[in-house]
Formats: sequence, structure tokens, C-alpha cells
Amino acid sequence: MEKLITPYCADFGKASIVIKHFPDDESYVLIPEIETLKNKKVRIYHRLYPYPDKRIFELLLILSRLKEQAKEVELFAPYLPYARQDRENKEGEALSADVLCELLKNYGVKKLITYDCHFLPRPGEFSRAGLPIENRSAGPELYAYAKKYFDETREEFVVVSPDEGASYFTENAKGNKAHSLKKVRHESKANGEETGIHADIATMEGEIDVEGKNVCILDDIISTGGTIVRAIEHLKARGAKKVIVGATHGVFAGHRIAEKILNNSCSELFITDSIAVKNAEFDTLFETLELPRD
Ligand code: R5P
Repeated sequence: MEKLITPYCADFGKASIVIKHFPDDESYVLIPEIETLKNKKVRIYHRLYPYPDKRIFELLLILSRLKEQAKEVELFAPYLPYARQDRENKEGEALSADVLCELLKNYGVKKLITYDCHFLPRPGEFSRAGLPIENRSAGPELYAYAKKYFDETREEFVVVSPDEGASYFTENAKGNKAHSLKKVRHESKANGEETGIHADIATMEGEIDVEGKNVCILDDIISTGGTIVRAIEHLKARGAKKVIVGATHGVFAGHRIAEKILNNSCSELFITDSIAVKNAEFDTLFETLELPRD
């Protein structure tokens, strides 16, 4: 299997695909010595976030050339954007999850390898819009980090997922107690108008005995941080001792999201490198765990 690495995965190895930008910001893609890939199996390593629209288009440019050369193309994209619009809540809504998967399939991707894909219920082999997907989970890595964190003080902890969708994360806890909460949402308002496209978490439901206990919250994504902040409030109100938070994808969509979580009674925040964070100052706020790269 030939590895092709884009500049957005340069931490995986030397970038072997050239991506540049014209003065008007349009993307330019070059696959040097493309003829050497003729009839070969190829795996592209590419991050699709931040700037998902641009990263997706650049990927299509790469695929447009590989389609005619390579025998088979796999894509390793540790975070799959557009995965949260996966069902029609209002008539006429576009399903971005399906559109993206169909695009990748039509441009020749034979398999997508990703982590904790939002529209999939657990790790394993799946298919969406005809695209085969190997969904891996960072759950074991996140759990191992939490275990080490609490082992240092020989303290026990319970694992909590903020909703049913992330409940498979708690399976890593094995003998430890693991629980799921349930989100209660309300419609977002912008200037008094209902936007309807992002519903804030109003509160959490679920009675869990955390009185005097340490807690580790595990989730797939931290985006606005609303879910995690509400979950911490819920658990603290029920007497939780120390709360730490781990998530696979640190999207951090908004201003000072990591600070917001840490300032809300979170003792430790840890994510993975599925999304590359470049800001050194921001980086020191949380631990970043390296995902397996094969
Ligand atoms: C939702 O179902 C996911 O598992 C995450 O809990 C959610 O995407 C986090 O979003 P936010 O940080 O904006 O609350």
C-alpha cells in the first residue's frame, strides 16, 4: 500500500502531495511522479478540519487524478466533518453526511478510515451512501489516559457519557461503573429569531450516584462546549468530586471553548490529534493524545 500524505497530515510523515493556494485563495494540487502510482493501492492521509469546505475540495482534486491511475484508493481522515447533519429534522434539510460520503465514493474512495464518526453508533465496519467506512474509536486511548490520571492518586472514578450516542465510550470502563446522561435541548435564538440549526443544551437528565466520587466524562466531539459544560454542572450538582473530560475530536467551535470548560470545574481536559491544533498557547490548555497512524 502506497502512502500519500497531504501537508495537513505532515505530522504523520513527509508530505508527498503538494497543495498550494493561488493569490485569490483557490487551491492548487500536485501529485509528484503520479505515474509511479499506476495500478497501485494507495492510502491518502488527509485532515478535513479546520476549513472543511476547502479541505474537501482539495481532496476531490487529489482524487480526480488518482481515479485514473491508482488501482484502489483508501482515505484516512481522522475526523469526518459534516457528519452531524445525518437525518432530516425539518423537511427540505440537506443531509451533508450522505452528500459527503457519496462524493467520496463517486470520486473513487473504496474505503474511508475515520475515528468516532458522529453518525455511526459504535466502532466497526459500516457503509453510508455506498461508501464503506471503517469507524475506529479513540475510546480506549481516552480511557487509558483517565485511568493513569486517577491511578497517580490511587483514586477510583466513574465514566459518564453525555448522551446515548456516546455511550459506547463507557464500555472501556469494564469493571468501573459507567453511565449515560440525556441531553435536553432548546432552540437557539439569534437576535430573537429562531435559527433552528443549532439547538443549545438546556439541561441534562439522568440520576447517577456521583456523590463524593471522581468522574471522567467521555464524548466524541467538543464543538461549542455546551454539552460538556451542562454535563459537568449536572454532575457537580449531584456532589461529584473531581471531574475530568476527554473527547476524540477537539473542534472547539467558538471563542475560548477550552477555557470555558476548564473554568467550569473541569480539572483536566484531553483530546486526540484527530484535528491539528496549531496555536501553542491554546495547546497548553489540554493534553493531546496521538492516535494510531496505520
Ligand atoms: C452530540 O451528539 C455529540 O456527541 C457531542 O456531544 C456534541 O456534538 C458536542 O457539541 P457541543 O460541544 O456543541 O455541545
